[in-house]
Amino acid sequence: MKMKKSLLSVVLMTVPLFSHAKGEIRSGQLWPDNHGVHVNAHGGGILYHRGTYYWFGEHKAENTSNAMVGVTCYSSKNLTDWKNEGVALAVSDEQGSDIEKGCILERPKVIYNAKTRKFVMWFHLELKGLGYRAARAGVAVADKVTGPYHFLRSQRVNAYRYPLNVTESEKAAMAKLQPKDYAEWWTPKWRRAIEKGLFLQRDLSTGQMARDQTVYVDDDGKAYHIFSSEDNLTLQIAELSEDYTFHTGRFVRVAAGGQNEAPAIFKKDGTYWMITSGCTGWEPNKARMFSARDIMGPWKQHESPCVGPKADLTFGGQSTYVLKVEGRRDAFIFMADIWRPKHPSDARYIWLPIDFKNGLPVVEWRDEWTLEYFKVDK
Ligand code: DGJ
Repeated sequence: MKMKKSLLSVVLMTVPLFSHAKGEIRSGQLWPDNHGVHVNAHGGGILYHRGTYYWFGEHKAENTSNAMVGVTCYSSKNLTDWKNEGVALAVSDEQGSDIEKGCILERPKVIYNAKTRKFVMWFHLELKGLGYRAARAGVAVADKVTGPYHFLRSQRVNAYRYPLNVTESEKAAMAKLQPKDYAEWWTPKWRRAIEKGLFLQRDLSTGQMARDQTVYVDDDGKAYHIFSSEDNLTLQIAELSEDYTFHTGRFVRVAAGGQNEAPAIFKKDGTYWMITSGCTGWEPNKARMFSARDIMGPWKQHESPCVGPKADLTFGGQSTYVLKVEGRRDAFIFMADIWRPKHPSDARYIWLPIDFKNGLPVVEWRDEWTLEYFKVDK
């Protein structure tokens, strides 16, 4: 009897914690997959392919944020019942491999190239044992959406290239900037030099740093890599090659010196919207928002899209992706991570609908909601 009672109380305590009852999306709670295990796909992104959503994300271990497994994949037709499809890109057991087990592999995103019929995964890679110093972009490809993905390479990007949005005279001024003249960080003088491209110039020969990232395929099939660069001080948006596996050398700087991480991008009625975070490690901070009519800019900054209680800390999360819901009108989901650095695999997900008020995206906390929130697209 005693046993039965305690079993019952465990069940009663557990059930309301789980998401997805009746197709409900419950941010911050446990999201069980088809095996009843909390989805382990953090810093993720979603690809819609032939009627199914595929969610790719970082597999997080119990007690380290380093990559011990790789990138996981889950599939769903309704965005609430998730089937574990296993490891899409596995870290390597080979010592010295760029993606050696124990490296840092973050924010993977997968896009589909209709011409090559390959699935292309981009991610932020830090080489094992080097902290966040490497600041590389990694790329892997697969013939099947769920993988296995084959690692191609990791590198800094766009070496010897200047951004498209600097004038010849700005380029000449940048070329004169020397880090030794700005040894003390965070001073007004240093900030001005950063805005002018101090670190871009510093990294010209090695390639630009690439940390928090996403990729975006535009309506014309062109793909772009959007990432925190220049020591997380400036975002860069870079065009990818036709096969999506290289950079073409065409890129722009966005919000120079603005310290943006966690870019998530979407397009509505010809306007590109980008939601980002500030840089506070695993701690949440206030989201930022930008818009542009051309992905290569100019980009304009707006207030945070988050409103209501806890909006100033992005509801405790950090942006990772904006998902367009198929078959629903103007239906976009803001996806964010609530990090748990002491117990990384217990990190939680925030998924909230994006509203549009006075033409601006707005995100408000909801304990639970369903896709019925969006109108069916006729
Ligand atoms: C914030 C980034 O957005 C995360 O992806 C991760 O790199 C943490 N910083 C590490 O502190």
